[in-house]
Amino acid sequence: MDKKNPRRFRHLTSINDLRIDEIEALFSLADRYLHELGDPHTPYRIGQSIQVASGSILATLFYEPSTRTRLSFETAMIRLGGKSISSADPATSSAAKGESLADTVRVASNYADVLVIRHPRDGAARFASDFASVPVINGGDGAHEHPTQTLCDLFTLKKENKNLNELNVAISGDLKGSRTIHSFVYALARFGAGVTLLPAHGMDLPEHVYWRLLHEYKCSPDRPVGNADPEVDALYVTADQPHQLALIAEPDAIDDLLKKDPKRTKKAIDAVYVTRFQKERWVDKDQDYPTVDANFLKGKEFLHSSVMHPLPRVGELDVAFDDDPRAVYFRQAAYGVPIRMALTSLLLSLSQKEVLEPFETGFRPSHHILYEQPREVGGQCTNPNCIVHDPLDGKYALNKFHIIDGKVPRLRCHYCENDIETFFVANRRQKTYELAVQRHQLPKNPSDTIFFTSEKNAQDVGYVPRAPRRATHS
Ligand code: NCD
Repeated sequence: MDKKNPRRFRHLTSINDLRIDEIEALFSLADRYLHELGDPHTPYRIGQSIQVASGSILATLFYEPSTRTRLSFETAMIRLGGKSISSADPATSSAAKGESLADTVRVASNYADVLVIRHPRDGAARFASDFASVPVINGGDGAHEHPTQTLCDLFTLKKENKNLNELNVAISGDLKGSRTIHSFVYALARFGAGVTLLPAHGMDLPEHVYWRLLHEYKCSPDRPVGNADPEVDALYVTADQPHQLALIAEPDAIDDLLKKDPKRTKKAIDAVYVTRFQKERWVDKDQDYPTVDANFLKGKEFLHSSVMHPLPRVGELDVAFDDDPRAVYFRQAAYGVPIRMALTSLLLSLSQKEVLEPFETGFRPSHHILYEQPREVGGQCTNPNCIVHDPLDGKYALNKFHIIDGKVPRLRCHYCENDIETFFVANRRQKTYELAVQRHQLPKNPSDTIFFTSEKNAQDVGYVPRAPRRATHS
């Protein structure tokens, strides 16, 4: 809860802001909407409206293109009986005049009861939530996360009668740039799923996402494809079109992979998740990219796979596959309405008591201490696309970090959640610094502590290396 605002409300900036029981509560409400308001001819479509949100307004503030996320949020609010307002084109809003997100959010908080924000910067949604006096929902922030897409993805699997606790999911494409995948893999891992990564060449999961899967969610994904793995390229064959590669189904590379892990040998793949090349997040926009088609999906492990895609697709998923009963991507997009109705309803406390209860416990707090540093002293997040480096919004951002304690400590940016592995801990009173990894224990008092990302960083503002600690003898 915002200290300055005594109203009880919460935001959704990462899928990890929701506990598993909250996700399940949200799904039961979405299911109830489908049951009570569904189109009798099209079971996955909401066909009627109710009036629980009459008098409430949802605003979509979108700084990047969108079709599904924005329209389904707006439809969801209208189906709940509320109204929606939209700023969908930065060229026609005050962003074109140079207004910061921080200012826009403070203003829009007075015009609407809930804000949905899409922005090209990683961490923009959590940053915006610091300035909002109403709930903020992340509609996709840079390459960071897209939590509501993950809610649609998991709900789709549930509706396909897949058991979320026993899933085995293969994920293909641009695993580095796709925010949908980052939220999805965290959720899969937390539900206990097996994850197989099929990255396009050079587009593996970011290191910090992979690290979190391994160390925080105890999920060790299979990676048959990846730069470090010589087998990787053996999985691809060049297709007819220039610069398009096809994932091959023979000589059954996935089967080979399954054989390596005896736990999975008998396990079929429940879902194949395909994503497009996120060109807007890459400097080199002309890279080889794999396609998924009926040929790739002909292996027996794919016999009952749900084939998913957050859409839009731009060539990586064969349109000829659309009539295959395993294709669920249009239903996945349709579920955006009941899911976003349920989320909006819960965040605005519009819903019945029994579903609402878990939501009132508030924002899922990080169990790691939050360190807030002034902008002018101390290290900044090293992710160049983090909101702290935005020419406009950076001026409003503090340097906020969590320390992830462990054998080798990591500094995690509060906004974009990228990790810094090598950093220096400094004492603000003594003006001394030392390499974090050399410390026995990291400081627990945020007000005495400051972090630097390089020695130069520290020395430039007058800090000196701490004298080596003397070994203590008993
Ligand atoms: C996704 C996004 O914006 O990240 N789209 C969506 O919301 N369904 C996926 C994409 O753009 O590739």
